[in-house]
Amino acid sequence: MAILDIRTYPDEILKTPTKQVGEIDDTIIKMIEDMADTMYKAPGVGLAAPQIGSDKRLIIYDITADDVVRNYSVLINPEIVESRGEIVSEGEGCLSVPELRTDVKRAEFVRVKGQDREGKPVDIEAEGILAIVLQHEIDHLDGTLFIDRISSLKRQLYIRKVKKMMKKNT
Ligand code: NI
Repeated sequence: MAILDIRTYPDEILKTPTKQVGEIDDTIIKMIEDMADTMYKAPGVGLAAPQIGSDKRLIIYDITADDVVRNYSVLINPEIVESRGEIVSEGEGCLSVPELRTDVKRAEFVRVKGQDREGKPVDIEAEGILAIVLQHEIDHLDGTLFIDRISSLKRQLYIRKVKKMMKKNT
């Protein structure tokens, strides 16, 4: 069990598209377990590999965030193959974008294909919160943060705030 450091904006790895996972070996299994420890500790409802400094196309999520049951899902090499509708994700946040919660427009329904932790193909249809979490985490795998999906004015305000925080910390 290991709690990993969560990378935060403006870390370059968060902007870097990930690479497909090949064989699901011990290193990947260990990474999944460490990501789960890290997600529940945070706490968060999802975590993507770039957030812990990895370039692998892999996410985990658990919309219950229940640290006792720990019934989390793993998606390896996920792709959104279908999306429709529009909803406002209210007060969306991200462990890699501290101190910001804001509304984000998301698709209301998504269909995602990928593999589970055993490498078996999965095909998920999701709406509501789960659809939002899947879109948010899969965005991470393409180097996209939720602040890339808000107005440039809101984004600029946040960037200014981060710069101020960084100055204070050095
Ligand atoms: Ni995030």
